[in-house]
Amino acid sequence: MNHDLHRRFPADFTWGVATSAFQIEGAAFEDGKGESIWDRFCRQPGAIADASNGDIACDHYHRLGSDLDLIAGLGVGAYRFSVSWPRVQPLGRGAWNEAGLAFYDRLVDGLLARGLKPHLTLNHWDLPQALQDTGGWATRETVNRFVDYARGVQRRLGDRLATLTTHNEPWVIAVLGHEQGVFAPGLKSRRTATQVAHHLLLSHGLALQALRAEGAAAPLGIVLNLAHMMPATDTAADIQASHMADLGGRCWYTDPMFKGHYPEEALAALGADAPQVQPGDMADIAQPLDFLGINYYTRVVSSADASFDVKKSGLPLTDMDWEIYPRGLTELLLTMHRDVSLPPVYITENGGAFKDPATDGQVHDADRTAYLHDHIAAVADARDQGVPMAGYMVWSLMDNFEWSSGYAKRFGIVHVDYATQQRTLKDSALWYRGFLQRWREQHAQKVGV
Ligand code: FCB
Repeated sequence: MNHDLHRRFPADFTWGVATSAFQIEGAAFEDGKGESIWDRFCRQPGAIADASNGDIACDHYHRLGSDLDLIAGLGVGAYRFSVSWPRVQPLGRGAWNEAGLAFYDRLVDGLLARGLKPHLTLNHWDLPQALQDTGGWATRETVNRFVDYARGVQRRLGDRLATLTTHNEPWVIAVLGHEQGVFAPGLKSRRTATQVAHHLLLSHGLALQALRAEGAAAPLGIVLNLAHMMPATDTAADIQASHMADLGGRCWYTDPMFKGHYPEEALAALGADAPQVQPGDMADIAQPLDFLGINYYTRVVSSADASFDVKKSGLPLTDMDWEIYPRGLTELLLTMHRDVSLPPVYITENGGAFKDPATDGQVHDADRTAYLHDHIAAVADARDQGVPMAGYMVWSLMDNFEWSSGYAKRFGIVHVDYATQQRTLKDSALWYRGFLQRWREQHAQKVGV
């Protein structure tokens, strides 16, 4: 572990922790909140590994003040959270829910009062179920509904945000939610998934235009889950497999936004499953980004015969069975830097799930500390090579509802005892706090000189 890592980051770098509404808030049916597709999906037998749901989660909705104190106590400068669309607009159209809007008002003001910058995401997956009932992201009408929702949130909160993100990980919504069916809404159609991806991109571009037309105060962007793509061997077939994975997982999203078109080779490979694109759509999607958020967890190794097995790769795995490969983060950032003209980049999520045995009120998660340290060093390496890095946020502030894995997978730097809702700082949180303190002191000294 490098004790001087903090020296590699400038005074204006943003450090934060991240969460999302469905994963922590609970209060799923309180104060006028509408049902979301995740509320519904959790009730589908077999959908969630431990048959749990988000009804209570971390009970954050009722513990806002003490959770904000917890965040401030870590010494971070920023907090990334999401707004639950059905909490503020229960049916996804029409009437707004004042109690829901008031909650996010208190959240944003509470952050500012503690000197923390609010980074807001509009869509971290919990679409109002009422919109799913009329077709969800597969229908073009949902695009218009999202733009209205974006406007409503900006009008209420937009004057106090550090950044505003349209979507979190559109690939996950499209592919895991609509092609593989392992995430809400649990559909299994490739044709639907490509149309969903198109509508997510379109709604992103139209929302940016609408928010700017109303004088957006906060920088606007999107958050993508990107992996470093590698072929399993150097055979031509594996290299091609990795290339196609890169086109489908990364370029399918970045090419439209940065270049105004889908990657030709990927489009051709889809054949009849290609999305319907109306005239003007691509220009609407290709809006300038004020920043790009990247969520990075692991590399993806592709082989033509799908024989690659992470359990035999020799790399250490997290509790999600994701390979730990920090160098991939540097490589990915350099790939992006070469490929497009990057705006300021935030790592909006990075972290690991580990078993975390709790002993005597302490959690000795040395594996997570090492994970964070090594990935922060990877960000510094990319920065040194010219990638415009603006910030880094740990996933996650605290253990929470990990989607189809339920509560069994723990990503927090703060431990949550779900029986008592007690929060305990893990060793990784103490390390992050110390790291940030050294970073701050170093810059304070420079100013003093
Ligand atoms: C990302 C999600 C986030 C969290 C992490 C582990 O795909 O954006 O909500 O579940 O994975």
